[in-house]
Amino acid sequence: MPASPPPRTYRVKSFGCQMNVYDGERMAELLTAQGIAPAPAGEEADLVVLNTCHIREKAAEKVYSDIGRIVKDWRRKDGTAPLIAVAGCVAQAEGEEIMARAPAVGIVVGPQAYHRLPALIADAVQGKRAVDTDMPAEMKFGALPARRKVGPSAFLTVQEGCDKFCTYCVVPYTRGAEVSRPFSDLVDEAQRLVDAGAREITLLGQNVNAWRDGAGRGLERLIEALAQLPGLARIRYTTSHPNDMTEGLIEAHRDVGKLMPFLHLPVQSGSDRVLRAMNRSHSVASYLAVLERVRAVRPDIALSGDFIVGFPGETEAEFADTVRLVEAVGYAQCFSFKYSPRPGTPAATMPDQIAPAVMDERLQRLQAALNVGQLAFNQASLGKRCAVLVERKGKLPGQWLGKSPWLQSVHFTADVGIGDLVEVELIEAGANSLAGRLL
Ligand code: SAH
Ligand code: SF4
Ligand code: F3S
Repeated sequence: MPASPPPRTYRVKSFGCQMNVYDGERMAELLTAQGIAPAPAGEEADLVVLNTCHIREKAAEKVYSDIGRIVKDWRRKDGTAPLIAVAGCVAQAEGEEIMARAPAVGIVVGPQAYHRLPALIADAVQGKRAVDTDMPAEMKFGALPARRKVGPSAFLTVQEGCDKFCTYCVVPYTRGAEVSRPFSDLVDEAQRLVDAGAREITLLGQNVNAWRDGAGRGLERLIEALAQLPGLARIRYTTSHPNDMTEGLIEAHRDVGKLMPFLHLPVQSGSDRVLRAMNRSHSVASYLAVLERVRAVRPDIALSGDFIVGFPGETEAEFADTVRLVEAVGYAQCFSFKYSPRPGTPAATMPDQIAPAVMDERLQRLQAALNVGQLAFNQASLGKRCAVLVERKGKLPGQWLGKSPWLQSVHFTADVGIGDLVEVELIEAGANSLAGRLL
């Protein structure tokens, strides 16, 4: 790679989960603090950061097609090629392979090393391609600039990594072991987010409810502390594991008014045999018992989850158990995926991989059942009065979009502004959104 002038503008493109969105924001802030400016809309940037996701094959392959497109179409103002940095989970999993396969890439940086971007950029500018996929003992967060400007709903990563090793999943390899950020750092960052405009904070972690600090405090203690911040109106958290749903956290849904009545608790399958093969370490019954305890303290809780169809060996009867579970629980919303074999994971080499056509058909049936549940949940909300946090303008003049406490998208027409928390009555329900009337 030849030497090139230092980049003056950047663009960060994030794929994958909300934690990647959070990391993308922090990288953008870091680059801005280095004197590199965000590229104006419609202009090609000198430095492109692809913040990638490795969770499924399609997500991972997207990196290479994106690189191809940038190499072909993007030019800096002076006609030279932009500097491409690959960050995120594909960088962690396939760093050397990216370097070999994509000569246009100047920097590969893993999710635990991106605080070192300035030094990597300095190397790349001198023509030295650089890979940094270390997982340093000290966390990156201390080395990042403070939060500045955020929207009304902000993300805050409190926990990273995963020790669960579900047999299909790359996260323990790409993000490393479970680590919790210190209590006081999080309260400080939350305060800064509020100062920067946040009214709602979603606490993030690959296993957010496994958050625990050195003093043994669990996530509910952190939630209680954040609820004391004046100016912060709403708290959410995602994603949780059924085995880490403690009694204390469940009770927070009763006791902390600012904690929203929404729980994303993936179960993945409705078959105990499949759950064992997935190494999920919970059963359908233990999962349902958790839901029952949460519903007992917070009857209006909106439930959400993740499902995988076509895990190796999944029979038609086992898949039917998943559909039955979906019908029994009544989810407010869910994500569902076709199983994707990931290199290095135990499930990738299991016998009885399911044919793509079978997976397609199962996914369609599961999604039909999920849609029925989602529409029913939204219809049951009709006539309710609730607060909506206004997040953005709608398509029609005077129309605004925001979220209900149950994370439903609500649109309504009124004279309000972004960040307002307004009272509405829910008057129309579709599968994906509701119409509201300002009270
Ligand atoms: N504990 C994290 C997991 C992140 S991955 C969380 O729930 O946020 C998000 C979801 O992707 C998982 O819950 C699972 O449903 C799905 N997933 C993970 N690996 C997969 C694979 N190999 N194929 C298909 N879906 C997968
Ligand atoms: Fe992946 Fe399982 Fe860990 Fe979630 S709990 S990140 S699905 S290994
Ligand atoms: Fe993807 Fe990594 Fe998140 S693999 S889902 S970006 S943790």
